[in-house]
Amino acid sequence: MKRIGLKLAILAMVASTVATVPALAGESAAVRNCTWCHGAEAQGYTVAPRLAGQQPQYIMSQIQSFHEHTRDNPFSRQYMWSAVAALSPAAARDLANYLASIPPKPANDGDSALASKGKRIFMEGIPEANIVSCYACHGPNGEGVRDIPRLGGLAYFYVKARLEQWGQGYHSTAGSPMPLVASHLGPDEIEALASYLSYVK
Ligand code: HEC
Ligand code: HEC
Repeated sequence: MKRIGLKLAILAMVASTVATVPALAGESAAVRNCTWCHGAEAQGYTVAPRLAGQQPQYIMSQIQSFHEHTRDNPFSRQYMWSAVAALSPAAARDLANYLASIPPKPANDGDSALASKGKRIFMEGIPEANIVSCYACHGPNGEGVRDIPRLGGLAYFYVKARLEQWGQGYHSTAGSPMPLVASHLGPDEIEALASYLSYVK
């Protein structure tokens, strides 16, 4: 009984924290519709990834794929399909530009012992295992460009889940190279890459 009571108390606390994430000065109601899940300053919160500093064109391409239901992994279905259902293209563009302008903070939550292995794979790939270098598209610090996302500093569990889900057949943006890229990655490589990326500034 005690344990159940404690769990409920924690749930109530979490629920009230989410409802009272302090608004940024000048943060509009439209932005608060996103940050109550994506965290204060859009730095990410539990399963909702950081959006701060993300490439604006990438944010817009993902909003479109949530709209079209092509990004179909469980959390996208559960949370994002409805979150963008009523968003106009102009509102999506304004949100993307605003979120991209917030300085991103690294999650620093991976296994630091795996970071150097992850960095090596990120920079050089593993040619004999058909694993391409990520750097070629995502840039030396995983900063991304246009519709290629910033990866540096994203949370370990988020990056790990994305890389696993492509291998499980979940889809993303139409024409994305990632299902093929990820299909060559084993669990050890995914853990190393996600660990490394969580520390990149
Ligand atoms: C109810 C919670 C919730 C709300 C509200 C919400 N999101 Fe999300 N969002 C999520 C979750 C969870 C994910 C992760 C989906 C996954 O695991 O692939 C996500 C993913 C995203 C992504 C993909 C990020 C990436 O790196 O690929 C974008 C872009 C996004 N949300 C934008 C928004 C915008 C803009 C709003 C406000 C209009 C918003 N979200 C509101 C929970 C939410
Ligand atoms: C040929 C270019 C290319 C290469 C090489 C590439 N990527 Fe990507 N990556 C993309 C594009 C484009 C997207 C956005 C489209 C999408 O979401 O499917 C993306 C998306 C991602 C995402 C989703 C980020 C988010 O915010 O949800 C992750 C994680 C990722 N790539 C990791 C990697 C890793 C790790 C490697 C190296 C093993 C790699 N990528 C190699 C082009 C590339």
